[in-house]
Amino acid sequence: MIIDGKQIAQNLKEQIREQVTALTAQYGRKPCLDVILVGENPASMSYVRSKIKATEYCDFDGELISLPETTTQDELLRVIRERNENPGVDGILVQLPLPKHIDEQCIIDAISPEKDVDGFHPTNVARLWLGQEAIVPCTPMGVMALLEQTGTPLQGRHAVVVGRSNIVGKPVAKLLLDKNCTVTIAHSRTADLAAVCRQADILVVAVGRPEMITADMVKPGATVIDVGINRTAEGKLVGDVDFRSVEPVAGAITPVPGGVGPMTIAMLMRNTIVCYQRRINK
Ligand code: GUN
Repeated sequence: MIIDGKQIAQNLKEQIREQVTALTAQYGRKPCLDVILVGENPASMSYVRSKIKATEYCDFDGELISLPETTTQDELLRVIRERNENPGVDGILVQLPLPKHIDEQCIIDAISPEKDVDGFHPTNVARLWLGQEAIVPCTPMGVMALLEQTGTPLQGRHAVVVGRSNIVGKPVAKLLLDKNCTVTIAHSRTADLAAVCRQADILVVAVGRPEMITADMVKPGATVIDVGINRTAEGKLVGDVDFRSVEPVAGAITPVPGGVGPMTIAMLMRNTIVCYQRRINK
């Protein structure tokens, strides 16, 4: 089975759009997401475009703040503080990566945790790991929604997460643990990665290395979720999984593009509504 992330995300966005209509009628204003892009990284520009398109589809308010590559850390901090203090703004997203002269963690720390739609602020990270009410990062939530939508049983099964980033690997491991999976986090230094991956009933790959997971690394029937988005020298988008060889072995697999990517954006819309509702009910 090929998991149609694009369609599942579309269904979610339709639900969100209806919810926005109801919330706007009830509270007299739309949810508002501000997206900040620094510089002109082509991949970031493309992601941000998709995010803005989704906010328009869902009928959110919001602003795209495009800043030059030369923006200083202090200037960026000022833009964030302005949005923190603006009661009409529900969500603030700073697209990563940032130019090298800006300290990313310092920027993440500056976003008000209650407007942190990415769930990257230390307060939200801690709350997630403590099992408290948190904003959960979008891509990991998108992965979990795909597993749920495809009816993949999780309880007691072995999930192997390849990659240990703060954005995907670590939070998705926590969410799988919450569903009573036995979780292994593998990474670039894992000895005999193929053997570890072959144990997986659920294999989540987020390493950023084009097509590194091959058929010999996958247990027949496993569910394979490919978080990677890599552009080849020929300009083609490929995942971290060698789709052509793995698809016949896997029980279910996400394509790239059209798998996890659209789900991340749908979850960003959902997180913005969560921030809006929590702020209204505070
Ligand atoms: N860069 C890559 N993924 C993400 C994400 O989920 N959020 C932000 N802000 N930047 C990213």
